[in-house]
Amino acid sequence: MPQLGEQSRLVAASRRHDLVVGSPRFERSGILGRAPLECFLRVAFVHPVIGLLTVLLAVFVMSRGLTSRRRDSRAHAARRIHRRWAPWALAAMALSAVTGTASTVFLRQDLSLGETWHLAVGWTAVAWMSAAGLLTRAFTRNPSLRRVHPWLGVVSVALAVIQAILGIQLLP
Ligand code: HEM
Ligand code: HEM
Repeated sequence: MPQLGEQSRLVAASRRHDLVVGSPRFERSGILGRAPLECFLRVAFVHPVIGLLTVLLAVFVMSRGLTSRRRDSRAHAARRIHRRWAPWALAAMALSAVTGTASTVFLRQDLSLGETWHLAVGWTAVAWMSAAGLLTRAFTRNPSLRRVHPWLGVVSVALAVIQAILGIQLLP
């Protein structure tokens, strides 16, 4: 039996987040009893925050990659930045897909995997960007791949932006 103070704190938290104790949304969170409601809400937001930062990093990496193609003084620095940060953008994409999937399975019992396009688009974006990265390994052997690489990269970033829009409807 929770203490009176703790009980009113929980009720206040549920009101703050527009949840009513006993409502399906509250009950289906599944984490109740193991951790307070606020804790659940905070953990469930970890993935959307990582996802948003990932999309911003991917757009930055893409802009440096495209600038590196220009024939002006900024191209050299842009290419250096692109080479340094592109693998981190790819790692962040993979991390986003893993945290999103884990968050859906372990935290969001009100969601099931693949309920929306967010699952398919997310993992497709990861595969597409991995292909862009892998292609760079063969640049010296086959220079024509230098023309294919940016297209794969741009498509993967476009998918990541769509992903952010699709993610909004899944927010807790
Ligand atoms: C490129 C970046 C991202 C990737 C690769 C990604 C990937 C995923 C995946 C694979 C899932 C499981 C979905 C399912 O089974 O239906 C998921 C869940 C989810 N995603 Fe993303 N996502 C990204 C960005 C975002 C962003 C920017 C937002 C916020 C607007 C977001 C919000 C969510 C939410 C709310 C869930 C449900 C799980 C939870 O509440 O934590 N995602 N994501
Ligand atoms: C995000 C979208 C991306 C775009 C738009 C993009 C674009 C470009 C462009 C235009 C170039 C110059 C190609 C040339 O030599 O003419 C380039 C080079 C390169 N990119 Fe990307 N790229 C992207 C993603 C990636 C990813 C994910 C990786 C690795 C994980 C990567 C690694 C590289 C490397 C190593 C080079 C070679 C630089 C050099 O030869 O000095 N890029 N990219």
